[in-house]
Amino acid sequence: MKSVKIGDIKIKNPIVLSPMAGISSLPFRIICNEMGAGYSPTELVSARSIRYNGVDKSLRYMRISPEEEGITAIQLFGTEPEDFEAAISTILETPVLKEVSIIDINMGCPVPKVVKTGAGSALMQDPKRASDIVKACKKAVSGLSRNIPITVKTRTGYNEGDKGNPDFAKALADAGCDMICVHGRTRPQMYHGESSNEAIAVMRDAVRGYDIPFFANGDICDVRSAKKIIEDTGCDGIMIGRAARGNPWIFARVLAGLNGTEMPDLPGVKDRKDMLVRELEGRLKYLPEDVAVREFRSVMPYYVKGLPGSARIKVKLVNAVSFDEVKEIIELA
Ligand SMILES: Cc1cc2nc3c(=O)[nH]c(=O)nc-3n(C[C@H](O)[C@H](O)[C@H](O)COP(=O)(O)O)c2cc1C
Repeated sequence: MKSVKIGDIKIKNPIVLSPMAGISSLPFRIICNEMGAGYSPTELVSARSIRYNGVDKSLRYMRISPEEEGITAIQLFGTEPEDFEAAISTILETPVLKEVSIIDINMGCPVPKVVKTGAGSALMQDPKRASDIVKACKKAVSGLSRNIPITVKTRTGYNEGDKGNPDFAKALADAGCDMICVHGRTRPQMYHGESSNEAIAVMRDAVRGYDIPFFANGDICDVRSAKKIIEDTGCDGIMIGRAARGNPWIFARVLAGLNGTEMPDLPGVKDRKDMLVRELEGRLKYLPEDVAVREFRSVMPYYVKGLPGSARIKVKLVNAVSFDEVKEIIELA
């Protein structure tokens, strides 16, 4: 795959971890980048909360490590342009966070709690507001000594049956957005049914005349599906979400498949166990042990999926309370 530029930032491998709440921890993002992901955004963080409460409450969700990650991206959600402007200003005044490479705006979240506030995928129904948010973000990063691109991740429609929303994509590009990523499902589909490459292509075609990269997302789980979404949509880059859970190796394998280089082996049982422990060790660096283990309970099953006796191991892992206990379960598995 050819490298792409988002604003002034060169993305050597335009295969990116799709942001996932509860999954996109800092250690996991570092691992994905090591495996070849071009970058890995944080999960969504409320612009309003940052504006009114400062960064402390949200820091655990948007913690970045430019040194270990390379290119970093923080994803914000919200509904008021002023909230985004204020949140970005706060981010740019905060040690470490101020080094962020990219700010991404969530315009795709289908969760009712978010949608009913007018944020996430609800913004697809209000292109004027969505444009104003992009403009407010661009304003917040203007006048800096470096360029911080503003990107948007959205879906193919708000309503069931929508087959792409070309006018929405154009509105984002006209507002100055530096990259658009489209997940090929509508809001009511949440994560069910099939992602539609055709609907993504409709949005891709709408912004072909603009000099910004376009990323496609949805149901990429191997080299074949990665090649297909690229062929079907003509996208410049791809984002991989669920298939990366407990499987950061997917980036190395898809990259090799697309570049025609030697395919790395599938991870063995020991590789998977070691990676589980490594991610938890990473989480322990910034979270109290009980919190880190509790939050990791929903992630651990992905690392042991398909291993002999995995059902039994999963039951133990999702009840574990300490790091030592997790290690013991893994060692005996
Ligand atoms: C558990 C979970 C959490 C997610 N959280 C976010 C999020 O915070 N921000 C976002 O833009 N998308 C989020 N998504 C959507 C994914 O980024 C992605 O668009 C979607 O899963 C489709 O890609 P996939 O088929 O490769 O998983 C989430 C998806 C899942 C399954």
